[in-house]
Amino acid sequence: MRLDKYLQLTKQFSKKEIQQLLKQHAITVNGNKAASLKQDVSKTDKVCLMGSRITEAPYFYLMVNKPAGILSALKDSHEKTIMDLIEHPRKDSLRIMGRLDRDTTGLMILTNDTRTIKRITLPQSHVEKEYEVTLRDPISKVAVQAFAEGLFIDQNVQLKPAELTILDDYHVKVIISEGRYHQIKKMFLSIHNQVLTLKRIRIHHLYLDDSLALGQYKCLDEKEIEQLTAK
Ligand code: URA
Repeated sequence: MRLDKYLQLTKQFSKKEIQQLLKQHAITVNGNKAASLKQDVSKTDKVCLMGSRITEAPYFYLMVNKPAGILSALKDSHEKTIMDLIEHPRKDSLRIMGRLDRDTTGLMILTNDTRTIKRITLPQSHVEKEYEVTLRDPISKVAVQAFAEGLFIDQNVQLKPAELTILDDYHVKVIISEGRYHQIKKMFLSIHNQVLTLKRIRIHHLYLDDSLALGQYKCLDEKEIEQLTAK
């Protein structure tokens, strides 16, 4: 997030005041004088005004229990989106951390912390996502090994090792550490099975809160933010 936006979100200064403070070299980021308001800052940066840390957290994070049948998009001219579930004064600043298919349910995070979104969703970051899956056909035990070795999807793309836990013949849990388009569905197609229902229950160390009904959301508390953003 840009430094000027960060300072504005504290609601302590006007745009003009922020510009004056910059000219007066009164703003520091991690101990260095800020040279531009366009500079990028994140939650972990220490932004100070005349030596005092700006404490009010400009970032906020919503956990949504996504129902089936709605789009993971900010807006759509025809269909209901995840944003239609949200009523929040700072709703316009929210962005999506990792989309789900229309028919997938479960854990979605909306936040204005775009830098963390990039970090969590970048394929290179290998952040784990955990899903509960219902299958069309009984699962075979040999699938566990195939998932662990790295399945092939999209003709010849080999996936990273994934963890498959069999709950019963038709129910499994899968942990993946990349986020390719329709990945879980394609993984089961590659072993000649089919996903009937898919629910995301975890991103990184953060689990879906069981007390959230489908379509409900809540603000993450400090502990949950840490579970989501931990390096
Ligand atoms: N994998 C899928 O196939 N769909 C999702 O929505 C998420 C992961």
